[in-house]
Amino acid sequence: MLFQLSEEHLMIRQAARDFAQTELKPGVIERDEHQKFPAEQVKLMGRLGFLGMMVSSQYGGSGMDAVSYVLVMEELSKVDASASVVVSVNNSLICYGLEHFGSEAQKQKYLIPLAKGEVIGAFCLSEPEAGSDATALSTSAVDMGDHYLLNGTKNWITNGSTASTYLAIAQTDTNKRHQGINAFIVEKGMPGFTIGQKENKMGIRGSDTHSLHFSDVKVPKENRIGDDGSGFKFAMTCLEGGRIGIASQALGIASGAYEMALNYAQERKAFGKSLADLQAIQFKLADMATNIEAARLLCLKAAWLKDNGLPYAQASSMAKLFASETAMKTTTEAVQIHGGYGYVKEYHVERLMRDAKITQIYEGTSEIQHIVISRQLLK
Ligand code: CAA
Repeated sequence: MLFQLSEEHLMIRQAARDFAQTELKPGVIERDEHQKFPAEQVKLMGRLGFLGMMVSSQYGGSGMDAVSYVLVMEELSKVDASASVVVSVNNSLICYGLEHFGSEAQKQKYLIPLAKGEVIGAFCLSEPEAGSDATALSTSAVDMGDHYLLNGTKNWITNGSTASTYLAIAQTDTNKRHQGINAFIVEKGMPGFTIGQKENKMGIRGSDTHSLHFSDVKVPKENRIGDDGSGFKFAMTCLEGGRIGIASQALGIASGAYEMALNYAQERKAFGKSLADLQAIQFKLADMATNIEAARLLCLKAAWLKDNGLPYAQASSMAKLFASETAMKTTTEAVQIHGGYGYVKEYHVERLMRDAKITQIYEGTSEIQHIVISRQLLK
């Protein structure tokens, strides 16, 4: 067993680290404060190949492996989780779905610009009455012969107003439960498709989260992804990989907060010595570092399984469950170590603590990860 990263992995990690420090860090507090989407930074990430990392070069991607994806997600998320969620959604939920389940025509028309980062995508599954219970969709798609007619509302959609390509999951036959669900490619600007309210969020405030409305949207038949009735499995399969992305995001948030706490503990003096000389602080740092290392290993293992064509549903859920819980615990402790400074915005750790919370919620709550893991164990 080899625990060493390759030269190529080290290079991609360094590139992401440099990008995060030079392009994401300046302005991250202001973007959070004003809920400003990192539009310029997303363009640059597209040029660096971060938005279609695992797509083959034939379809405009960088052809990298999932291990590289974990490394990039960790580095970006140490600094700006609002930017890194764009990378996660575009890679795992959009590009992966189109490359593995889309028709050749869909790949040519939609995947190539998405993988090149010329445009970004949004994954539209959640609804006002269907979050964890993803089969309870009420968005309907009625087969009209040469097209489907889409009606309904989607909630909490990442890249909601900034995306160009939307993958919408809808019910075509309510009697068939998950077998009556399909996934469709919807373009921004299709008549009847409107962007709804922007969410005013606790964390990842720079990320663009909206509700979306479909009112008699005519979606051409050729925009259905895969066979009739395959939409639920499509969504679940995309989410399996997406959970590696969000786990790595949580890992990055945790390690960013830990690094800040470590530095602060060495600089700050109290009771005539540095905080780092106090055992109470040393033990906190030891717990933080241990949990982060365990989370990193779980993320890399899930990615390695994916890269080697092995089943990774359980591993990606374990990684997401553990890494997101670690992110919450670690950022809370980082604020505690910073004391009063930790509670004010200029020290970053309070933002990381707010950002950490979403990793326990989106792409399957911690409770849903318990369901996925236990079902795999009992299978
Ligand atoms: N891969 C392939 N097929 C799968 C699958 C997977 N990972 N998981 C389930 N399926 C299949 C099952 O085999 C079953 O098919 P058959 O009947 O043919 O065997 C079918 O799907 C239904 O499965 P279940 O009976 O297990 O379905 P369920 O209703 O019990 O739900 C669940 C399972 C795991 C709880 C699922 O509903 C789930 O993951 N919920 C959470 C949804 C979620 O993660 N939402 C996130 C929103 S997207 C987001 O957050 C993106 C963003 O913007 C950041």
